Amino acid sequence: MKISVIGCGYLGAVHAAAMAELGHEVVGIDVDERKIEALAAGRAPFFEPGLPEILTSAGASGRLSFSTDMADVKGATVHFIAVGTPQKAGSYSADLTYVDAAVDSLIPHLKSGDLVVGKSTVPVGTAARLADKVTSAVPGANLAWNPEFLREGFAVEDTISPDRLVYGVSPVAEVAEVSTNILNSVYAKALAEETPLVVTDYATAELVKVSANAFLATKISFINAIAEIAEVTGGNVTELADAIGFDARIGRRFLNAGIGFGGGCLPKDIRAFGARAEELGRGESLAFLKEVDSINLRRRQHVVDLVVDLLGGQAFNKRVAVLGLAFKPDSDDIRDSPALDIAVQLNGLGAIVTATDPEAIANASAKHPQLHFVPSVAEAVEQAEVVLLLTEWKEYRALLPADIEAGVGSKRIIDGRNVLDSATWRAAGWEYRAMGRP
Ligand SMILES: NC(=O)c1ccc[n+]([C@@H]2O[C@H](COP(=O)([O-])OP(=O)(O)OC[C@H]3O[C@@H](n4cnc5c(N)ncnc54)[C@H](O)[C@@H]3O)[C@@H](O)[C@H]2O)c1
Repeated sequence: MKISVIGCGYLGAVHAAAMAELGHEVVGIDVDERKIEALAAGRAPFFEPGLPEILTSAGASGRLSFSTDMADVKGATVHFIAVGTPQKAGSYSADLTYVDAAVDSLIPHLKSGDLVVGKSTVPVGTAARLADKVTSAVPGANLAWNPEFLREGFAVEDTISPDRLVYGVSPVAEVAEVSTNILNSVYAKALAEETPLVVTDYATAELVKVSANAFLATKISFINAIAEIAEVTGGNVTELADAIGFDARIGRRFLNAGIGFGGGCLPKDIRAFGARAEELGRGESLAFLKEVDSINLRRRQHVVDLVVDLLGGQAFNKRVAVLGLAFKPDSDDIRDSPALDIAVQLNGLGAIVTATDPEAIANASAKHPQLHFVPSVAEAVEQAEVVLLLTEWKEYRALLPADIEAGVGSKRIIDGRNVLDSATWRAAGWEYRAMGRP
């Protein structure tokens, strides 16, 4: 297939390279010249395991190109829309200006028979509106919505071998059939491997994505709410999660208590879903998502309070080491990162925050130059009165007291992700605090 991918961020760049890797001929389009320059030179503009390799191999095959000029989509018949849908300033709703701008600038280059495929996460109702726009501007061109479920850190693997495919297609049967056949050709390899496929209407496809994220966010906030109760009762939320997780109806995944979720998806998606429900007159149906959000944000405050408490009531002029800035390991994405938020709050209280991260320092320092960034754990913990483990990178999970105790000012550690062995740290004389467990 000849494919264009409009928007080459965390989702689109991986999608473009993965589609080329699968044998399609792909052009990636973005308005960000620096990003396109890097991608065209075979360099990943952000950290994502496996992306450099497929950029190189797909680039060498001659099947992958990048451009800032929308006219370069000519020749492609399938056009994926992968631009951002961030939270609107001053509101909980999704900002659809990028999606509309992308579709508007694509329309002059569309021809009859082309299929526009939405991948961005959008409020329910968007696909039907855009389908009207596309078909009325270019008769014979159609639109489908194909939400994306990739996880940053596993994006390449998730794109090449997704755990399911969802197509939201036109209510007109013949159009639905043609669109489904086109998408089946795009995803022929995954379908041959028996990836589950759900072909449905636009609204359901849009709702599948936001419901999945709402469910995951709820699961995390559920266990963090239980952590709050464990904290005042002396319970152990990790053992509790193990015990309830043995029930197959509950499952153990996404039940790790800690400093909560962040990133470019879950926080803004649950807010936008709630805002859309209110517009639809069903605000009460998703009112619980506000609570999910509050529980999540409370965990960050809890850690800040804990630091102040450990420092004897005030953080001013105290040295604090922060290990981890990305919102999750194996990513350099700092969008709505709980780790970075905690670091910034402590800095606001006058603490001298020295932070490190294996991949996210460049992004974090561009956004928060007031923090002090260092490349290594050894430098970060130098003279620290308290050490905070906030993103569970593999190398931080493997930390042992002997690795850092020579440099610290005081042997105090807060394990914001519940990944260290408390007994080991206490045995080495550390004051060890975790989330929802003794
Ligand atoms: N990142 C993820 O893990 C993930 C997973 C599933 C779904 N999504 C959804 O995918 C969408 C994109 O997310 P992302 O994380 O890749 O965002 P991103 O901010 O990393 O990338 C968006 C890209 O779109 C480009 N862009 C904006 N307007 C454009 C235009 N008019 N024409 C061409 N390019 C334009 C931007 O320059 C940017 O490079 C969002 O709706 C998000 O919710 C993301």
